Amino acid sequence: MARSGKVTVVGAGFYGSTTALRLAEYDIFETVVLTDILEGKPEGLALDMNQSRSIEGFETKIVGATTTPEGAGYEATAGSEVVVITAGLPRKPGMSRMDLIGVNAGIVRGVAENIAKHSPNAVIIVVSNPLDEMTALAQLATAFPKNRVMGQAGMLDTARFTHFVAEELKVEVGSVKTLTLGSHGETMVPVPSRCTVNGKPLSDLLPQAKIDELVDRTRNGGAEVVALLKTGSAYYAPSAAAARMAKAVKEDSGAVMPVCAWVDGEYGISGVYLGVEAEIGKSGVRKVVESALTQTEVEALKTAAEAVRAKQADVKDL
Ligand code: 2OP
Repeated sequence: MARSGKVTVVGAGFYGSTTALRLAEYDIFETVVLTDILEGKPEGLALDMNQSRSIEGFETKIVGATTTPEGAGYEATAGSEVVVITAGLPRKPGMSRMDLIGVNAGIVRGVAENIAKHSPNAVIIVVSNPLDEMTALAQLATAFPKNRVMGQAGMLDTARFTHFVAEELKVEVGSVKTLTLGSHGETMVPVPSRCTVNGKPLSDLLPQAKIDELVDRTRNGGAEVVALLKTGSAYYAPSAAAARMAKAVKEDSGAVMPVCAWVDGEYGISGVYLGVEAEIGKSGVRKVVESALTQTEVEALKTAAEAVRAKQADVKDL
């Protein structure tokens, strides 16, 4: 595929800068724009990344742009096909993602409004926390069609679960398939019926108590990293997930991924952003893919939907 177009990553912290570099290394965009409100930081990181191009063998150019909350500097992002919003504070040890809602809502709203002005046709991928609520807020602030705003969480949670299963069974990570749906938080929904190792059901290979332990570790996967790092939160696995979503949009690939998408009738759930499997293409979410879940899994998904619905209703006032 010929290199073309522009993707913007808002926020040049570890999550944003790693996402920008991953996107640049795919070598499918003409330009990756990295922005931040810290003067000089995005420009400095962009210069550094550009200097890695001849070593890593990619031609995509990275452009750094300092922005202000009032909107200065956003001209550099104009006409982006995809925008990844990483802006906002990460958790500190002991915090839940929901503890960030007040402060991050203001930041995400401002960013989303500025992005909408300069890139009215973009697909937006939100990664700021609390994820499900910030995704809903970005859609409200941009007034974009709901399919053009989605959040990254399911890919990450699924990848964490996969890693834990592979470690437990001492098998290659490539032989493991897992799936988590629901929220990126307390009501994350693991889907045991879709978890296999070399095609064998996970429930044939591990006792239920061990599976429950791994699910619990997955649900707390972000907090476990935060506690170890002491400052900041995870970014290698999160950025891998966000970059793959942006790539699927750019390539209009139709890849089916677990993402935070607008659910409108699937599984008997309506009117909420929720972690579900979706087909991703240049219009964002082409469609939510409803698969055969067990009754228990569907009930858990409905419980997650009701938990996030209440919070998402609040974000319009934040
Ligand atoms: C995590 O779970 C950053 O929310 C992200 O690590």
